[in-house]
Amino acid sequence: MWGGRFGKESSDLMREINASIGVDKRLWREDLAGSAAHAAMLRDRGIIGAEDAEAILSGLGTIASEYERSGVAEDMALEDIHMHVEHRLGELIGPAAGRLHTARSRNDQVATDFRMWVRSAIAEADNAIGAFQRILLDRAEQHADSVMPGFTHLQTAQPVTLGHHLMAYYEMLRRDRSRFADAAARLDECPLGAAALAGTSFPIDRHATARALGFSRPTDNSIDSVSDRDFALDYLMAAVQCSLHLSRLAEELIIWSTSFFGFVHLPDEYSTGSSIMPQKRNPDAAELVRGHSGRIAGAMTALIVTMKGLPLAYSKDMQNDKAPVFEAHDLLMLSLNALAGMVEQTRFDTARMRAAAEAGYSTATDLADWLVQAADVPFREAHHIVGRTVKLAEERGVGLAELDLASLQGIDPRIDERVYAVLTAEASVRSRTSHGGTAPDNVRARIAAAKEKPGA
Ligand code: ARG
Repeated sequence: MWGGRFGKESSDLMREINASIGVDKRLWREDLAGSAAHAAMLRDRGIIGAEDAEAILSGLGTIASEYERSGVAEDMALEDIHMHVEHRLGELIGPAAGRLHTARSRNDQVATDFRMWVRSAIAEADNAIGAFQRILLDRAEQHADSVMPGFTHLQTAQPVTLGHHLMAYYEMLRRDRSRFADAAARLDECPLGAAALAGTSFPIDRHATARALGFSRPTDNSIDSVSDRDFALDYLMAAVQCSLHLSRLAEELIIWSTSFFGFVHLPDEYSTGSSIMPQKRNPDAAELVRGHSGRIAGAMTALIVTMKGLPLAYSKDMQNDKAPVFEAHDLLMLSLNALAGMVEQTRFDTARMRAAAEAGYSTATDLADWLVQAADVPFREAHHIVGRTVKLAEERGVGLAELDLASLQGIDPRIDERVYAVLTAEASVRSRTSHGGTAPDNVRARIAAAKEKPGA
């Protein structure tokens, strides 16, 4: 491609370190689409002849069906996907192929291809997240009344419903979708036509190519156009946050599936056995979702460190931008789909959850609240009274609701028999009617609103 200036061939090692085809062949669809839009624009602006343009466009079509049929045959000497396409075009249509690269550079070409690829990746991620959210809504609806212990510090805190707990993940995923939508909105500018970095003297129409490739407008600064990879970082950061959410849910499923908790029975389809211990059912898929989030965060770090301190405009370091994004996207899609499948098919042991919900004095706060509301005790004092009540129950090895009235009144005479109504887990969750609280009616209303207006 640049033979004119060089006396000797590249060394094998140079070819090897320089080649990116093994990775960027994944951009072939975008590369062909970008080239077709560019060729049509060159023709419309009278920069290349109609006949050459026709040959180029039909040659690009042929290459598309070849790649579709048998993939991209990698040739390290041809470095990257852009040169593979141009080379093949030359074989197919002869010297007219040499006109395609008028008024563009691989710098704006790769920036355009990669943006288009990331744009599709965002759409794919958004779809998968939406599908997962619908599963969460259904499962949450089934369990709007199922009582379970809510935890802080992984210690029993207060009773909540499983529906409410699952809806917490719905909300996380809703924010993930909005982050991906932000990334898509910022990405929506086309760098094609920035050429190497300075723009071009040819009378190109950047608005036309932007439109043809589905962008709202061209970018406004040619230097920024070829040096910017914010769109890839935006994608990675949204992917990292999403994967953190998936990882936390995976971790909960892992804990909940232990014999100690026994809250869930993970589906056979997503579990494995042990080659030595016949009794084992291992939550491998959940563990891999948890593990993959680490790799996705690593991918983000890799690109951050690559971009940090690079002088404008393009440097070859930036060729390393694609592998982390491809890896993160593949891992994110797998994680989303596998975890969604797991949540869809997991059996929740609501009886065990219910039993655990009242263990650990989880309704102690309800007793304190009752003292405040029914006996006008200041909350701090009520807190102290309940502390002594819990201590007594602990000494006798019983739950709060099993303490007889005389014992309760021995601690504080303002307690009367009405208190027993608030000491069950069901009463506790039913009372949490504040906005966003765990009361089953609240949760059902949130689910209905989410089903009506997904994303809101
Ligand atoms: N394969 C290159 C990349 O992905 C294409 C751009 C090459 N530009 C250059 N000036 N060498 O970054």
